[in-house]
Amino acid sequence: MMCGAVPMGAIMDAVRGLIFDLDGVITDTAEYHYLAWKQVADEEGLPFTREDNEALRGLSRRESLLRLLKGRSVDEATLQIWMAHKNTYYLAYLDEISPASLLPGVAVLLEDAKRAGLKLGIGSSSKNAQQVIQHLGLKALFDVIGDGYCVVNAKPAPDLFLWVAGALGIFPTQAVVFEDAEAGVEAAQRGGFRTVGIGAAAQRATLWLPSLQAPPLAEMLQRLATV
Ligand code: BG6
Ligand code: MG
Repeated sequence: MMCGAVPMGAIMDAVRGLIFDLDGVITDTAEYHYLAWKQVADEEGLPFTREDNEALRGLSRRESLLRLLKGRSVDEATLQIWMAHKNTYYLAYLDEISPASLLPGVAVLLEDAKRAGLKLGIGSSSKNAQQVIQHLGLKALFDVIGDGYCVVNAKPAPDLFLWVAGALGIFPTQAVVFEDAEAGVEAAQRGGFRTVGIGAAAQRATLWLPSLQAPPLAEMLQRLATV
């Protein structure tokens, strides 16, 4: 078989696991990423709006900075300094995250999944994912946490989700990926996963929802099975 995208017509198996993106799906750290980049952009006199930020969802720190620069040429040392500044500003926001910071519907969905015996994984591009999950008090709940250190090729490459599925011991056809980012939906679809997209940027997912508040997990899985 050729490398590349798995045809979505491929046979789908019963779902054995759920893989969640973190930022913008489990908790609204997307806002903190924006505020931290905005601080760097303001300091350096770079134009950067909330709308610009929407296109950065799911992208690695480096790719985000390159997009923010909009083609402006900057030497490697400066790139490293700006990325370090952004991360310092971002880390300062993490103290605001607590178990109360879960997005609507997430707690119930995770409980239902656990009760149903599904495996649970995180597939996040962030190098700070472990810390965020620690602040949320969710560390014990997830069987596998894949973060920005696990693979070389970041989303939209499928590598991270494939890595998480492998660590969970399931095939992509047995997993559902939850994503809020266009790059994340693309990554999951290229890996042969069914996808649930949350929010405006993830409308190309197999099943699109405005939030995780509804429908209940059983109905979500039923709807995915019939798409
Ligand atoms: C993703 C976010 O989860 O992680 C992106 O959606 C972010 O906005 C990326 O750039 C990398 O995060 P970090 O914490 O490694 O800078
Ligand atoms: Mg996200």
